[in-house]
Amino acid sequence: MKKITIAIDGFSSTGKSTLAKQLAKHLGYVYVDTGAMYRAVALYAMQNNYIGTDFFDKEKLISSLPSIKLHFKFNSELGFAEMYLNDINVETEIRTLEVSNFVSSVAAISEVRTKLVEQQQEMGKEKGIVMDGRDIGTVVFPNAELKIFMTAGADTRAQRRYDELKAKGDSVSYEEVLKNVVERDYIDTHRVDSPLVMADDAIEVDNSYLDRKEQFDAVLELVNDVI
Ligand code: C5P
Repeated sequence: MKKITIAIDGFSSTGKSTLAKQLAKHLGYVYVDTGAMYRAVALYAMQNNYIGTDFFDKEKLISSLPSIKLHFKFNSELGFAEMYLNDINVETEIRTLEVSNFVSSVAAISEVRTKLVEQQQEMGKEKGIVMDGRDIGTVVFPNAELKIFMTAGADTRAQRRYDELKAKGDSVSYEEVLKNVVERDYIDTHRVDSPLVMADDAIEVDNSYLDRKEQFDAVLELVNDVI
């Protein structure tokens, strides 16, 4: 069986990472969550006071980029790789609503994207990879053998993200989460550099009414058609 590259893109909280993890596990592929990388850069900007509710010093962030080191390390207990920022595990910190509120502004900066895309291409150069994000099928791996574009209604997505945050003990309201999902989608689809758009050769999967297993089975069929 040949090893391929699987690109999964789509709107916020469409369950991309759940599907990508299932596929990677099943196929014995590496899974890369590129959103975690943008989140880690946003966290760095927050920790250094480059970004806040009413300010964003983009130039400072851009000039600090060489000192931002990102890597993933597989956690066998969890079954997936966790995100490290300058050798510190930030997997929990990057998932907060506060980081979600700043990440899309950070991800709109071209210099940030150039750095991260380079690292992502390096990670995927041997194939046998499932990568999820917003620009994987369009920019990072335009030649990926399989491209999936995931969608679901904003309410469904916000509810899923709300349940996830609540389960982790975060005190957030559903309205805040919905606002964040809608705002991120707006910024991600309207930015100048690599906006979120479905690649011409991607297959759209609307999972509003699919459970995890149904979705996995449907996509696995698509994978089997290619490998
Ligand atoms: O996937 P996740 O929701 O964790 O991504 C967080 C944010 O990172 C997105 O809303 C988007 O602004 C940015 N992102 C991106 N390109 C990617 C992955 C994520 O711009 N490939």
